[in-house]
Amino acid sequence: KAKANNSMWAYKDFFAAGLGYTIFISAISVFFGFLLGVILSLMRLSHNKIASAIATSYIEFVRGTPLMVQLLFVYFGLGLVVNIPALLSGIIAVSLNSAAYVAEVIRSGINSIPVGQTEASRSLGMSRTMTMKYIILPQAMKNIWPALGNEFVSLIKESSIVSVIGVKDLIYQSRIVQSDTYRGVMPLIITMILYFIITFGISRLMKHFEGKMSHE
Ligand code: ARG
Repeated sequence: KAKANNSMWAYKDFFAAGLGYTIFISAISVFFGFLLGVILSLMRLSHNKIASAIATSYIEFVRGTPLMVQLLFVYFGLGLVVNIPALLSGIIAVSLNSAAYVAEVIRSGINSIPVGQTEASRSLGMSRTMTMKYIILPQAMKNIWPALGNEFVSLIKESSIVSVIGVKDLIYQSRIVQSDTYRGVMPLIITMILYFIITFGISRLMKHFEGKMSHE
């Protein structure tokens, strides 16, 4: 008599596909989130009142509303205008969300450097840009880098929300395997292990470069 194959190994392709989506979404969102986050933090710290107000409002609003609502807003909102796939909506929402957190990480890192550093540098005749580049940022990096690592880890975990709009990431696949095998726990254990391997890998990698930075 044929017996349903409910061993997890039989579903390795599902987990592999989910892992692929999760890594893909996270990698692209880390890139664009970081880029946009740098721009936002520069706007927020700039002396241009309008730019600073726009950046501050954006950062506060994004951090003050749930990522899930932002995701649905991007998916259905953009869906009114153009027909974009769920995957693209997911990447846009996660990137836009992470940018706000990255901007805060950079801003607080820069603000953690005593103002005397800027005053000393400026009084030695360095320009604002030179002060930022040679005096403030090298010191601020020691605070920014570890916090940025935390944000990357958060982003990978938070990216799991894209499963609600049907993106076939790790969470989505684990639900499929659950209903296919009637096994509730095992797919989740495998999913957790897979997430942990990525996040632990990222934090070790960040720590490795953190160690390198302190040797200067
Ligand atoms: N889960 C929270 C939310 O829905 C936090 C999102 C955190 N995002 C991040 N990029 N760190 O808003």
